[in-house]
Amino acid sequence: MSGGGHAGIRGSGCYLPERILSNHDFEKIVDTSDEWITTRTGIKERRIAAPGQATSDMGTIAAQRALESAGLTPNDIDLILVATVTPDYPFPSTACLIQHKLGCREIGAFDLSAACSGFMYAISTASQFVRNGAAKNVLVVGAETLSRVTDYSDRGSAILFGDGAGAVIVSNEFAHGEIVSTEIHSDGAGFETIIVPAGGSAKPLTAEAISAREQYMKLRGREVFKFAVSRMVELVEHALARHADIELGLVVPHQVNLRIIESARDRLGITDDKLVVNIERYGNTSAASIAIAFDEARRAGRFDACAGKLVVMCAFGAGLTWGSVALRW
Ligand code: UT7
Repeated sequence: MSGGGHAGIRGSGCYLPERILSNHDFEKIVDTSDEWITTRTGIKERRIAAPGQATSDMGTIAAQRALESAGLTPNDIDLILVATVTPDYPFPSTACLIQHKLGCREIGAFDLSAACSGFMYAISTASQFVRNGAAKNVLVVGAETLSRVTDYSDRGSAILFGDGAGAVIVSNEFAHGEIVSTEIHSDGAGFETIIVPAGGSAKPLTAEAISAREQYMKLRGREVFKFAVSRMVELVEHALARHADIELGLVVPHQVNLRIIESARDRLGITDDKLVVNIERYGNTSAASIAIAFDEARRAGRFDACAGKLVVMCAFGAGLTWGSVALRW
């Protein structure tokens, strides 16, 4: 990123559905245990959307809360970006549904698909619109209803995922959190590492595909594990090198697996007080994960001690994709 005006985070909000699915609940669904899930992932429970509750419903509430925290109204929004891999429909976009539910003007609105890295991709895109003057306030939503693509007969993946939504307003007027750099990457050679095989143009949703449970997510967990640790380390190191003059305040990583976060933490040589972790309560919510963690950290006052310091958000996921956003608080 270079040139142009400034962009920063003006407000944030999140929404988690009420229903809790605990590890003990999972013991009744598949051959697993609270002990295995806790020690292998750090997850204790996750939230599950109510029947009929869609990604746009959760995203709209998160957006309303972000607007409130920013002191803005739907009328102030110039563009909506929604990062999701679990849209309400293949089309129209979830962003259009949120535009309608919020009662915004006839502004641009589109979805962005980068799986767990989606929120990084979306903030990166939003900051370009704001910095070049095309928009003053961009609503960026990360929202997922992963329970609808989770195979609850597959213990290797089902225990990981939850539903939820988070949102920020990327604005040219902000008190804290200037976006000082962003970084996004992809490597499509790894497209099968995390995939929903059926339901797209490559493999339409036929009775045969459904009987093979191909409408659900398939995950090569061990491969993702190694990829995630090395990418998290690399992304944080890059941000620290780019902003060597700014002291590290906090890292807000994708909430993927506590062991992945802790391995990266050890390789980076940072301490727990520099990390935002909430995976024990929500599991992995893909594009919503950093959005929720960021909002919770902000409301808990975790950024109060970060004045002038660097806040690095970083994510990695299906695609394969990875990316980061660096803020000067
Ligand atoms: O955001 C991107 C998407 N997220 C991810 O892809 C997550 C990244 N990967 C991971 O978090 C971890 O790889 C997992 C949590 C998915 C798996 O942990 P692991 O330590 O890599 O376990 P593993 O796959 O090597 O499996 C070890 C054993 C296997 O049994 P055997 O073959 O050793 O007898 C599995 O069958 O654990 C077994 N296992 C389970 N046992 C109890 C796998 N899932 C479960 C389970 N409960 N839920």
